[in-house]
Amino acid sequence: MNPEPTRPRARARKSAAPAGAEPVLRVRTVRASDMAAVIALDATVTGLHKAAYWQRVFKRYGNYGQGQRQFLVATLDEQVCGFVIGEVRDWEFGAPPCGWVFAIDVMPSARQLGIGARMLADLVARFRREGVHTLRTMTSSSNSLLQSFFRSQGMRAGHLLPLEMDLSAYPLEGRGVDDEERAA
Ligand SMILES: CC(C)(COP(=O)(O)OP(=O)(O)OC[C@H]1O[C@@H](n2cnc3c(N)ncnc32)[C@H](O)[C@@H]1OP(=O)(O)O)[C@@H](O)C(=O)NCCC(=O)NCCS
Repeated sequence: MNPEPTRPRARARKSAAPAGAEPVLRVRTVRASDMAAVIALDATVTGLHKAAYWQRVFKRYGNYGQGQRQFLVATLDEQVCGFVIGEVRDWEFGAPPCGWVFAIDVMPSARQLGIGARMLADLVARFRREGVHTLRTMTSSSNSLLQSFFRSQGMRAGHLLPLEMDLSAYPLEGRGVDDEERAA
């Protein structure tokens, strides 16, 4: 969508060495060869090396950037330093089609250089091309870093309210569910 390579913003350049040796930032669709770096980056944030999970995500979203599913990576001098994943969902929760961003990560050593903002901008551009007018996400209520980031990009509390429950505490007895299903 936006093939223009850019420099990380001025604040980043101060910490980089001599002028002319500034790293080049690009955002592009993920490739199979990026997945080892994506898995390693996720592991730095979550502490879990979820190779099988990420291969499934790649199968589903690594679709060469076409259509409604997007899996983008940011690279600094060709090295993966971040990723963002999102998709357009139609009429879920009774809402008209809208874009969801459900994963974003920037390598800890490359944070606060504008890379997260740049990836989100590319995702927004791609969603707009799909004709959607709203971007949604959910964050853990304790992830204040992610909340600060999304707020800085213009996102505000929406009208959807997440609800959840503990399924192990849900009383299936007396609700007409087969014994076999209940035991499963
Ligand atoms: C949130 C995250 C993606 C931001 O990426 P980034 O490249 O550092 O963000 P940017 O440099 O583009 O910052 C954009 C804005 O976000 C906000 N922001 C970024 N880092 C911040 C911090 N540490 N504290 C407060 N605000 C912050 C700022 O408003 C910033 O704008 P400013 O620098 O002009 O003030 C990155 O910190 C990250 O990957 N965190 C872990 C995310 C995570 O938990 N992922 C797992 C669940 S999906």
